[in-house]
Amino acid sequence: MLDNESHPIPPTQQLSGTALTTLQPSLRRAKLVLGDFANTVGSFIVTHRPAPIAFVSVDADYYSSAGAALQLFDADSQAFLPRVLCYFDDILGTNSYVGELLAIDEFNAAHKAVKIAPIHGLTLTRRVPAFWNAGMHVLYFFEHRDYNRHTGDVPHFAG
Ligand SMILES: C[S@@+](CC[C@H](N)C(=O)[O-])C[C@H]1O[C@@H](n2cnc3c(N)ncnc32)[C@H](O)[C@@H]1O
Repeated sequence: MLDNESHPIPPTQQLSGTALTTLQPSLRRAKLVLGDFANTVGSFIVTHRPAPIAFVSVDADYYSSAGAALQLFDADSQAFLPRVLCYFDDILGTNSYVGELLAIDEFNAAHKAVKIAPIHGLTLTRRVPAFWNAGMHVLYFFEHRDYNRHTGDVPHFAG
């Protein structure tokens, strides 16, 4: 069922129990975490203690699901790099009043020192511009202890 703010992309795939039993054994280091984001995302960092997260891809079709997924960033910022590349799959053809862009706007409004912003002009920097360029964002932890640490020559679009 669509929530009101979702733009009308229907969910296309469900990871079935069969997929879990066949896929998980083929993964050497990755671990599948199945379930509603509302039940899994909030405890993900503490439960699974991943290496510092540098990239997050959000592809859950719904406004409400995107909002639930973004709760990942409410964890201790030390679980992340100071800037996290984020890909949002469902923003093309939408606007800030619906779907993922609305979820991003609400996240930004609710967080003073953590912001998600698009990488303006990324397409112009690509030798082969592509559809996915428009979905690329950066999440900034402005109060991350390493935010101002020099990391060498980084691409200018990463801020
Ligand atoms: C377009 S598919 C993702 C496809 C995936 N990126 C891939 O390439 O295989 C969207 C998925 O988001 C899942 N989803 C949507 N809302 C969710 C939620 N609140 N919690 C967990 N999964 C959710 C759906 O079950 C569906 O499998």
